[in-house]
Amino acid sequence: MAAQTKKRVLSGMRPSGKLHLGHLHGVLDNWKRLQDEYECFFFVADWHALTTNYERPYEIPENIEEMVIDWLAVGIDPEKAVLFVQSDIKEHAELHLLLSMITPVSWLERNPTYKEQQQQLKERDLATYGFLGYPVLQAADIIMYKANKVPVGVDQLPHVELTREITRRFNYLYNPVFPIPEAMLTEVPKMPGIDGRKMSKSYGNSIFLSDSPDAVRKKIASYVTDVERPRRSDPGDPENRCVAFNLHKLYMPDERLAEIVKECKAGRLGCVACKRELAEAVVEFLIPVWQKRARLASEPETVRQVLEDGAKRAKQEAVKTMDEVRSVLWTRHAKSD
Ligand code: TRP
Ligand code: SF4
Repeated sequence: MAAQTKKRVLSGMRPSGKLHLGHLHGVLDNWKRLQDEYECFFFVADWHALTTNYERPYEIPENIEEMVIDWLAVGIDPEKAVLFVQSDIKEHAELHLLLSMITPVSWLERNPTYKEQQQQLKERDLATYGFLGYPVLQAADIIMYKANKVPVGVDQLPHVELTREITRRFNYLYNPVFPIPEAMLTEVPKMPGIDGRKMSKSYGNSIFLSDSPDAVRKKIASYVTDVERPRRSDPGDPENRCVAFNLHKLYMPDERLAEIVKECKAGRLGCVACKRELAEAVVEFLIPVWQKRARLASEPETVRQVLEDGAKRAKQEAVKTMDEVRSVLWTRHAKSD
């Protein structure tokens, strides 16, 4: 099938630095599936990172590199998807500006993530113009490539909804040049951190793709298990009370998993041994990722080249879109009167 007939997918990630297993199973596994089926654009949202990290912008370039190494190491494939950095495509800034002219402030103030994030990140002053406009920039990212589908987590749904409203408004005011993008929500496996909370860099509970085998073993050893089971002979409830068991479900072969459930419930399996076995399965799983990571880290030229090629491809599309945008914007239409 010709490339043009494939639907287009676009998604972005803020450069938060090293990625963990939560990113891998929550986002990247999904991107890997999509890159085989759709024409995909995946990008690093470095300007978005600046909306909250404007006091430490110097950290961002390093984080971009770390993150893209992780993308490539897990199998995001630059031969299949266009991988690029937002700030390499200045057209995003122009489209963001133009969209800002037609976006009512009330839509942005209503955005639930606006207030939530301000409260969560109290130590930073987020009463900025740029932070309020976060979803406008995101809308520009999405429609620049005329994306049909936007794979995101639930937390990003309000932003995709705002993108749809802004896009409709643009199409109505000028000319219907943009498809209305749709969010694509995918089922993601539960991936708690060692303390049972959601895996998150800021909680210090994550297993990173860049961790050493020993760090992985240590972290898995400290996973919370069934706390109502102080002695090995007490019957356990892996499905409902053991945090580590969420990882067993992902990394143990089905047959062994069934045995573990049985033995744990019968009080015949100790948590220390059980987690040791889990750790070895996770280490086994990560070996190819580590190998690829080490190779990429030793040849920084590769990542640079991938992003340069990606920027060229993205730029072609962005230039085309902006030509069209300027042309409909500065021309009188039937609706203008
Ligand atoms: N806001 C997204 C996040 O924090 C990142 C992002 C920026 C994005 N632009 C996008 C995601 C466009 C999808 C499409 O996760
Ligand atoms: Fe969890 Fe394994 Fe302990 Fe059962 S034996 S509670 S599955 S760690």
